[in-house]
Amino acid sequence: MRCALELLKTDQHLHQLTMSLWKMLLYHDEYTAKHSSNVATYAYLTARSIGLDLHSCRNLYAAGLLHDIGKIKICSTLLNKPGSLTNHERRQIEQHTQYGQNIISLFKNIDPLIQEAAYKHHERLDGSGYPDGIKGRHIPLFVRILAVADVYDAMTTTRPYQAERSHSCAKKIIEKEANTKFDEYIVSKFFLLFNGNSKSSLLTNLENTKLFAV
Ligand SMILES: [Fe+2]
Repeated sequence: MRCALELLKTDQHLHQLTMSLWKMLLYHDEYTAKHSSNVATYAYLTARSIGLDLHSCRNLYAAGLLHDIGKIKICSTLLNKPGSLTNHERRQIEQHTQYGQNIISLFKNIDPLIQEAAYKHHERLDGSGYPDGIKGRHIPLFVRILAVADVYDAMTTTRPYQAERSHSCAKKIIEKEANTKFDEYIVSKFFLLFNGNSKSSLLTNLENTKLFAV
């Protein structure tokens, strides 16, 4: 299987643009950039597992890298604030979806689907998400994939305001919300990626396939 970064390189312009924006995010907030890299990988592998074509997989990988790009407009102190957020702070952070769409729209060569992913990745099937509370079929397939990858990685990594959850704990929570907040089919395919039923088993496989090798 050709690795995701190789696929990105087949479109040099998209690759360079995506990586430049991602490096800006890395400079601003290291956690968000690494999280985005993980999300990109999970989303790419899920897309491959459901048989999406290589072009869509490549775009989904780029969408994962850029889904939180809007956070470069938000102070890193707020992004990494320990403890709970005030309503005002929460609203500020939620604006990253709109900021992300605005930033990506400046680059005409980036597929509009990637812009849409940045805007909609916090939407949920039951309408409980943001920014617009759209439901069901109004949430595109690639956004559904990103949503599962995003939530899984957020749960299984340590944040100043939240302890890292185990793979099995995150799996239990996400599977409980399959068909309400998340797409049931995508959730089932996502967890099939983890052969050894743990996060480390997938990461080891990724190292073996040199997915991260640039
Ligand atoms: Fe986000």
